[in-house]
Amino acid sequence: SEKIQKTLQAIRDGKFFLLYDSEKREGETDFVISATAVQPQDVKRMRKDGGGLICVAVSPKASDILKLPYMADVVTAAATNDKINPKLEIGTFVEKEGDIQYDKKSSFSLWVNHRENRTGIPDDDRSYTIRRLGEMTKTALEGKPVDFASEFRTPGHTATLRASKGLLDERRGQTELSIALALMAGTTPAMVVCEMLDDTNGKALSKEDAKAYGEKNDMIFVEGWEVVEAFEIWKKEG
Ligand code: 5RP
Ligand code: CA
Repeated sequence: SEKIQKTLQAIRDGKFFLLYDSEKREGETDFVISATAVQPQDVKRMRKDGGGLICVAVSPKASDILKLPYMADVVTAAATNDKINPKLEIGTFVEKEGDIQYDKKSSFSLWVNHRENRTGIPDDDRSYTIRRLGEMTKTALEGKPVDFASEFRTPGHTATLRASKGLLDERRGQTELSIALALMAGTTPAMVVCEMLDDTNGKALSKEDAKAYGEKNDMIFVEGWEVVEAFEIWKKEG
């Protein structure tokens, strides 16, 4: 559709667009922008106008190369180590199927900072971490050698998210929706997402208000089902 084409162009141009998942899922809208394009003023906009968590979604292939694990798996492994908080028994509260009301699992991977960051939270620190994550994803997918540990440390102030292997066939969160769009756009599949919250009540910003924000700020508002439909066509066309 014309809207999807405009969204793909926004991704290539390094501009924001707004991505709503669905009524059946979270019913939330995220700011989305390509990681390689992020500048300090973009981080500022996400934290002031969005207010959610600023995360970087990475394609399954790139996550494998960068060795980004699911956080739930990391914690599960740690739970078998007696030296780590033995009395807390992490294994008993690590996320499992049924815990999240609207999905089988979360996409959370490691929280990271770039090694050149001082604290990791100011806009320039976070934008640098995010941009380098994007650039390293690009390098990794070009088949060139990458050394994640040489540039990043964990814990840090930017969450990374692993997109599911089966992408939209498996999960339809902003993690997979944004990565599917990047693949269609032919850009690096490392995408920044941040939820839009409502300052008047602290809840997720309503779909109507998110749409209105998009109109006012010249950002496309796209819904999960529109991405699913376009991705199906794109896959068929090969
Ligand atoms: C991180 C999240 C958000 O919901 C984000 O939109 C990505 O997750 P998902 O793919 O589950 O929607 O949990 O703040
Ligand atoms: Ca979401």
